[in-house]
Amino acid sequence: MKRYKDIAGDGGSNIAQQVGEQQARLQARLAEVRAVVAVVSGKGGVGKSSITANLAACWALEGRRVGVLDADLNGPTMATMLGVRGRRLVVGADGVTPPESALGIRVMSMDLLLPSDDTPLVWEAPTQAESHTWRGAMEANALREFLADTAWGALDMLLLDLPPGTDRLVTVAGLLPVLSGTVVVTIPSDVAHLVVRKSITIAAQAKAPVLGLVENMTGLFPGRSGAELAREAGIPFLGAVPFDPALAAAADLGEPLVASAPTCAAARSLLAIAAAVGAAISDARTSGAASG
Ligand SMILES: Nc1ncnc2c1ncn2[C@@H]1O[C@H](COP(=O)(O)OP(=O)(O)OP(=O)(O)O)[C@@H](O)[C@H]1O
Ligand SMILES: [Mg+2]
Repeated sequence: MKRYKDIAGDGGSNIAQQVGEQQARLQARLAEVRAVVAVVSGKGGVGKSSITANLAACWALEGRRVGVLDADLNGPTMATMLGVRGRRLVVGADGVTPPESALGIRVMSMDLLLPSDDTPLVWEAPTQAESHTWRGAMEANALREFLADTAWGALDMLLLDLPPGTDRLVTVAGLLPVLSGTVVVTIPSDVAHLVVRKSITIAAQAKAPVLGLVENMTGLFPGRSGAELAREAGIPFLGAVPFDPALAAAADLGEPLVASAPTCAAARSLLAIAAAVGAAISDARTSGAASG
């Protein structure tokens, strides 16, 4: 697709048509995906990406076909956490083939496109001072491209790892024909809860059910529990993942903990959370089908 800088002055590009065609490709692509789940938290650093990588691994270990889209364009971590960093992207007739992790998880991330570790993502605008006015539209375009032009193939589950920020879900949900549900992540701290409450409000307004709240890094902070927050917000509590340095070490090595140490407490809790999310998706599907 042409970019804005390419079309300045040419007067002949039909942006609406190009976006429409891409949206149609996206629809066709996602028609082969049984469930799309977004992992969100307004708060940064609470473990969205770690939970995404491990949920993906739990389902891949069960033999399901899983994809992960790293929707964090500025701070992409999925390629590292799933061990596909540095893999070459192959462009075929059907789009870009996503690299597969050791467990067969198909991964697409901005990290696979940036030329070096130190290269930040910078949006090209007529001047950098103007780039902030374009950023929202450009991010949405990039995500639309990732969804539409990646040859995901048939998937049981596509997980979206969102960046921090309470408003990010709205952008992503707006691109998707169907969102099966959201998983909200918090840590047991009042400061985090203050922000996560806002995310829950936004998630509840999305056209998809809030599948539940995960508490991460349990034991590290003295704040109120995620279970309490979930109860107050009226959403399911999916479980608590203890703080465990081994989880961070495994992520750095590109091997999700649930695969490398499945019997440790954190992995067991992640496996239980994956089962609870799977059940919540099935329930939502059944009640959606029943209500028409
Ligand atoms: N339960 C845990 N125990 C120990 N370390 C953890 C745990 N969960 C996450 N971490 C580590 O904490 C750091 C932040 O986690 P992560 O990157 O998953 O958070 P995030 O919410 O995705 O951050 P961002 O908002 O920047 O996207 C990482 O180094 C990760 O390995
Ligand atoms: Mg992250």
